Amino acid sequence: MTAESGASLLLVGCGKMGGAMLDGWLAAGTASRVVVVDRAGLPQSVAGDSRVTLASGADALPDGFVPDVIVLAVKPQVMEDALPSYRALVRPGTVFLSIAAGKTIAYFERLLGEGAVVVRSMPNTPAAIGRGMTVAVPNARVSAAQRDLSDRLLRAVGDVAWVEDEGLLDPVTAVSGSGPAYVFFLVEAMAKAGEAAGLPADLAMRLARATVSGAGALLDASPQEAADLRKAVTSPNGTTQAALEVLMAEDGVQPVMTAAIAAATRRSRELAG
Ligand SMILES: NC(=O)c1ccc[n+]([C@@H]2O[C@H](COP(=O)([O-])OP(=O)(O)OC[C@H]3O[C@@H](n4cnc5c(N)ncnc54)[C@H](OP(=O)(O)O)[C@@H]3O)[C@@H](O)[C@H]2O)c1
Repeated sequence: MTAESGASLLLVGCGKMGGAMLDGWLAAGTASRVVVVDRAGLPQSVAGDSRVTLASGADALPDGFVPDVIVLAVKPQVMEDALPSYRALVRPGTVFLSIAAGKTIAYFERLLGEGAVVVRSMPNTPAAIGRGMTVAVPNARVSAAQRDLSDRLLRAVGDVAWVEDEGLLDPVTAVSGSGPAYVFFLVEAMAKAGEAAGLPADLAMRLARATVSGAGALLDASPQEAADLRKAVTSPNGTTQAALEVLMAEDGVQPVMTAAIAAATRRSRELAG
C-alpha cells in the first residue's frame, strides 16, 4: 500500500458506524479497495463504486485478497461468533482495527491469537455525521505506519486521539463515548426548566435545542477555551451570572457531572471483556 494508491480494507459490519466510515474513506480516497462483509449487502451510498465489493463471509473473500486493515464494526455481542473465522488472516502486515465498545486488546488476542496486530478504538455517535471523537490504543505489534493508516481511517469520521494506556478507555468511554447522551439530556432539562418558567412546551424545546447546537457550533468554530466563551457571555450582575451562580455552586453541576462520569467509568470497567 502507498499513500497515493490507498489502502486495501476488509470491513466487517457495515451498519451505522461501518457505513459512515466507508463513505468517509471513499470520499477521501483513503481506500483503493474495500471488501465488505455484511448480511444486509452494500449500502446505497456506495452502489456503482468499483472500489467496493461484497463478500458473504471470511471464507468467501476474493482470491488473493490480503487486506492492510480489517475494520471490525459489528456489535460487541456478535464479535465472539464473527471473529474466529478471521483468524486465518492474522499476519504482521494486517491490522485488526476494532470500533466495538468494551472489547479489549486481550479479548482480540485471545480470539485471534497472540500474533494479531490490534488497534482498539472508541468512537462516539457524532461519527455518523463525520463529527465523531475517537480514542485509539494500539497493541505492541502495531508499527508506526500501521498506526498512521489506522489514524487516517478513523479520521474519516472525526477527530482522533491516541493513548498508550488501555485503562484510559474506561474514562474515555464515560466522557466522549456516552457524552452525547448527557448533552441531549441537557436539552431536555433546559426545555423542562423553560416550561417551568412559563414558556409553551414546543417553544421551550425549540429554544433549548437551538441553543445547545448553536453553542456547540460556536465552540467548534472558536479558538477560545469553553471557559473564555462562558465568561464572554456573562455580564457582571446580569441574567447569565444569576444562572451560573446556581450551576457553579458547590452543590451545582460539577459534583453531579463528576459522579456521573465516575459511574460510567465503573460500568465500562464492569462491562469490559
Ligand atoms: N453507533 C454508535 O454511535 C457507536 C459508537 C461507538 C462505538 N460503536 C461501535 O460500533 C460497532 C457497530 O455499531 P453500529 O451502531 O454501527 O451497529 P449496526 O448499525 O447494528 O451495524 C452492525 C452491522 O454488522 C452486521 N453484522 C452482524 N453480524 C455480522 C457478521 N457476523 N459479519 C458481518 N456483519 C455482521 C449487522 O447486520 P444485521 O443488522 O443484519 O445484524 C449490521 O449491519 C459496535 O461494536 C459499537 O459498539 C458504535
